[in-house]
Amino acid sequence: MAKVYITETILRDAHQSQAATRMRLDEMLPMAAELDKIGYFSIECWGGATFDSCMRFLNEDPWERLRQLKKAMPNTPLQMLLRGQNILGYKHYADDVVDEFVRQSIRNGISIIRIFDALNDPRNMRQAMESCKKHGGVCEATISYTTSPVHTNEYFIKLAKQLEEMGADIICIKDMAGILFPYVAYDLVKGIKAVLKPETKVHLHTHQTAGTGNQTYLKAIEAGVDIIDCALSAMGNGTSQPATEPMVAILQNTEYDTGLDLKKLSEISSYFDGVAKRLKEDGWLTEKSLKTDVNALIYQVPGGMLSNLVGQLKKANALDKYEQVLAEVPRVRADLGYPPLVTPTSQIVGTQAVFNVLSGARYKMVSQETKGVLRGEYGKLPAEPNADIVAQVLGDAERITCRPADLIEPELKKYSEDPELKPYIRQPEDVLSYALFPQVALNYFRYRAANEYHVDSDIADPSKGIQIV
Ligand code: CO
Repeated sequence: MAKVYITETILRDAHQSQAATRMRLDEMLPMAAELDKIGYFSIECWGGATFDSCMRFLNEDPWERLRQLKKAMPNTPLQMLLRGQNILGYKHYADDVVDEFVRQSIRNGISIIRIFDALNDPRNMRQAMESCKKHGGVCEATISYTTSPVHTNEYFIKLAKQLEEMGADIICIKDMAGILFPYVAYDLVKGIKAVLKPETKVHLHTHQTAGTGNQTYLKAIEAGVDIIDCALSAMGNGTSQPATEPMVAILQNTEYDTGLDLKKLSEISSYFDGVAKRLKEDGWLTEKSLKTDVNALIYQVPGGMLSNLVGQLKKANALDKYEQVLAEVPRVRADLGYPPLVTPTSQIVGTQAVFNVLSGARYKMVSQETKGVLRGEYGKLPAEPNADIVAQVLGDAERITCRPADLIEPELKKYSEDPELKPYIRQPEDVLSYALFPQVALNYFRYRAANEYHVDSDIADPSKGIQIV
């Protein structure tokens, strides 16, 4: 009854967090049949950054990846991460694109869709949730966890209930930064479980970035959480999820026993040690992503965001301003009404903090995205933004209060009839790849077309930017 279920993330979040999403399909398939036999609740293997990465860096068709994974793992529900109205991109799409994307994801092999919105605005999740249910998927609606004066446990409990009323089968608490601490997790899970129907499961996602993930899981389990996300030890811990095997061992012979076979898990993990080695040799997996990141604890920002900030400052030759920028991040976040820091808000807040420090005056330089957030283009902010900053940045410009996607006309037909795309369409899903990442998809389609005619793949390498006609 109290058995805890595990979702395995090694095929998605683990390598996205540790190795810039560079694991290839040919590295996944040899162990897929074994993973399928373990008895996981689900295997997260698609969505998030993997879709973009397939086409941009790996010359892979993400849809073909999904079909092959499903073929190799027919018995385990496959799970994906979806950014609500942003789908897998960085802006809002029309409802018809969201619906078709969800339909094709399920048709090609996805069973469970974890749907989140960076601002926790349920209006941005509604279409994806409805489509998921309509097309036969399991709808896992998500709370993006963060801390701020407005993000109290009461706030999240109310949100969880609202998402359940909108049709969620599972409620996910997504702690993308690894800052949900054990005792807070205990109260939060208790509170959420208390308001949900008994059949609605609660699924917890955290990262081991700050070294607190196992303990958080343990307290959440004591509070009644049903499912936890883990990654096999080959790519577990560090910026990734807490490792699968220790969690299985911790729960063994208790009322929460997962029932998973430690020996089989370790055999599979040994295989992925080899994949991790390849990712290290190619420079994607570094020691840094395996170490406990105390900065993430202090500044409560996702690990990926910290490394982005370092990158931006290096580029501007201003690495000495790192501490200043870190101190500016929470101030920008407060000005913008406390958005959780997750794609795309983590990038927006980080970049604005860099601008504020480097330009010598706060909001002297303002990114289009910051303006968009203040205007309401991303949805309703958790708290009212700083009125002085709104006046300074927006002047008299009108703010949006409706659901942002209500302002977008249907766009599927426009994409499918685009003359640039037409010669490259090989499957209906290609239209969706193109809608999300037009240039990246076209580059990949050209590469694919070139291969059909056995053109030397070096010449057709999309990263070299040569166009094959
Ligand atoms: Co994550």
